Amino acid sequence: MVNEEDVEVFWTRGDIHSRVHLAMTKANLVDKKLEIEELFPIDQYHARGIAATVDLGNRMPIKKNQSILDIGCGLGGPARYYAKEFECIITGIDITPSFVEIGNEFNKITSMSNKVELKVGNGEILDFQNETFDGAYSQHVTMNISEREKFFSEAFRVLKKGGFFAFTEHGLGVKGNPIFPLPWADTEKMSFLLPPKETMFLLKKVGFSNIEIIETGDKYISGYEKLTNPSPKKEKPILGIHVIGGESMKERSVNSMKSIKENRTLPFEVVCKKQ
Ligand SMILES: C[S@@+](CC[C@H](N)C(=O)[O-])C[C@H]1O[C@@H](n2cnc3c(N)ncnc32)[C@H](O)[C@@H]1O
Repeated sequence: MVNEEDVEVFWTRGDIHSRVHLAMTKANLVDKKLEIEELFPIDQYHARGIAATVDLGNRMPIKKNQSILDIGCGLGGPARYYAKEFECIITGIDITPSFVEIGNEFNKITSMSNKVELKVGNGEILDFQNETFDGAYSQHVTMNISEREKFFSEAFRVLKKGGFFAFTEHGLGVKGNPIFPLPWADTEKMSFLLPPKETMFLLKKVGFSNIEIIETGDKYISGYEKLTNPSPKKEKPILGIHVIGGESMKERSVNSMKSIKENRTLPFEVVCKKQ
């Protein structure tokens, strides 16, 4: 298991509260009631932003009023989107306390606090009773999880029978050896990638079935191309992934794109079931 303080330092990259406040002030979004859509440029903390969240949502069998767990919820952007879109209740947990604080503030200003609750927690030891949730998902988190079998077995344990588990990740490609620094790790110390075959094996081992996997490399390459080569005519937007990821976000995104192109990494989406 990685040191929790290292994870907070990596993900927040300095005073994230001030960076977010400054960007929100410049965007004229402070002290206002907002729609969740106004926060999409800043609260979807993964490559491809809201498009990736929508894609995963299209594959998740969420029903109205269900209770859903978001493991590694970040700033709660995906949770707010799914709660609104599917009219469900979402509990999010994340190991980075500052993300949870900002995320709950975003819940308040978008009037979503009655639908989405974010808490500090570690996906490798979930603080919930067995069979609590109708479904669970985890977007771009597992790359940081050294105890992958434990992480999957915890997701399985807290799901009700018939529940689903969905996640997106960058797996290890056939060539291996990704180029650091990456969006999820500056060095090998925080990166624990597995080939998709091994991921499937572990999911089955902990009890999941009906496992469906889709490779998404091409979508990520074009998403990273747009992010790292914006039109020269366009000014850098005030709100964007750079506010959260800091100055090195561009270099880390370029490395992630190259890693996919060179088959060092392989992004994919998985949906499976607890029967
Ligand atoms: C790329 S961000 C994704 C955030 C969010 N899922 C999203 O898509 O907007 C990865 C997140 O995983 C969280 N994380 C990393 N290791 C974790 C762990 N063991 N338990 C819970 N969260 C973790 C980080 O704090 C970070 O918020």
